[in-house]
Amino acid sequence: MSELLRIEDLKIHYPIRSGFFNRVTDYVYAVDGVDFVIEKGKTYGLVGESGSGKSTIGKAIVGLEKTTSGKITYEGQDVTKKSVRRHLNYNKDVQMIFQDSMSSLNPKKRIVDVIAEPIRNFERLSDQEEKQKVRKLLDIVGMPDDALYKYPHEFSGGQRQRIGVARAVATNPKLIVADEPVSALDLSVQAQVLNFMKQIQEEFGLSYLFISHDLGVVKHMCDNIAIMYKGRFVEIGTREDIYLRPQHIYTKRLLSAIPRIDVANRDKHMDNRRKVEKEYQESQGDYYDSNGRVFDLSSLSPTHQVALKRGGA
Ligand SMILES: Nc1ncnc2c1ncn2[C@@H]1O[C@H](COP(=O)(O)OP(=O)(O)OP(=O)(O)O)[C@@H](O)[C@H]1O
Ligand SMILES: [Mg+2]
Repeated sequence: MSELLRIEDLKIHYPIRSGFFNRVTDYVYAVDGVDFVIEKGKTYGLVGESGSGKSTIGKAIVGLEKTTSGKITYEGQDVTKKSVRRHLNYNKDVQMIFQDSMSSLNPKKRIVDVIAEPIRNFERLSDQEEKQKVRKLLDIVGMPDDALYKYPHEFSGGQRQRIGVARAVATNPKLIVADEPVSALDLSVQAQVLNFMKQIQEEFGLSYLFISHDLGVVKHMCDNIAIMYKGRFVEIGTREDIYLRPQHIYTKRLLSAIPRIDVANRDKHMDNRRKVEKEYQESQGDYYDSNGRVFDLSSLSPTHQVALKRGGA
């Protein structure tokens, strides 16, 4: 295995202010002590319900969110500091596809400028060279040439998301943080965009941090997966660990929530969902401490870790 990015004991706490003096009275523990490694050419999945802290981790990795504590190591250096990021050309190597393509693409800019913008920060190209490069990027994501001079609102959600992908690969990055890249899309278009992402991964040896709330979507994309709940990891493992041998009740719950198309087994899935829900209601104490906080992870195998009460469950 060859490591690209290492996250150690990462914490991001947002202050809550209140009262007349606007004092800090409490904190939102958006991310509260997570560790993981993204390997070269591989996809790491980050899965959890809304508000669990997924986007916050993604934004911290690309330098858009200040960390409270912990380390993010790239090429042996801690990139939580802006000066280090600049020195390593980190902002060229690590790009993000944002959760909402409508608001993340500047509506006043034509596609040629939207896609060329990250290139301009790092390379000086002639107009001609730049256009050629953008055309090639549009081609990679399966968009026609005439998209060049249109504006973001002139495209469908799926097309906009592909433009977001083209923009993210424009600087030839090593890692792309893909925050719910297909959640807003129809199933058929989802598959299209995911296929593009896989193709360019193979072509360029890219790594992804793939963020989703849906274990069904990440299944065919991820090599390793972390299941997140309230700022903590409840379970981490290989794809097989998570899908075939889930241990934490929260993981089981997410798995039972994956929509099924096979009508034949519908009753079986309903039964399973009811069983998991019952276990969830009855055995909270085995999975969360008295403050509702997720326990520390412990190892089941070299690849598989789960957050269970010591000696229990
Ligand atoms: N700037 C901020 N100030 C205060 N709290 C914030 C801020 N940004 C996020 N939060 C809180 O941090 C928590 C994690 O938010 P985050 O956006 O990372 O969740 P998420 O897992 O990406 O959810 P979703 O699936 O809905 O996108 C939430 O409780 C959110 O309300
Ligand atoms: Mg989010």
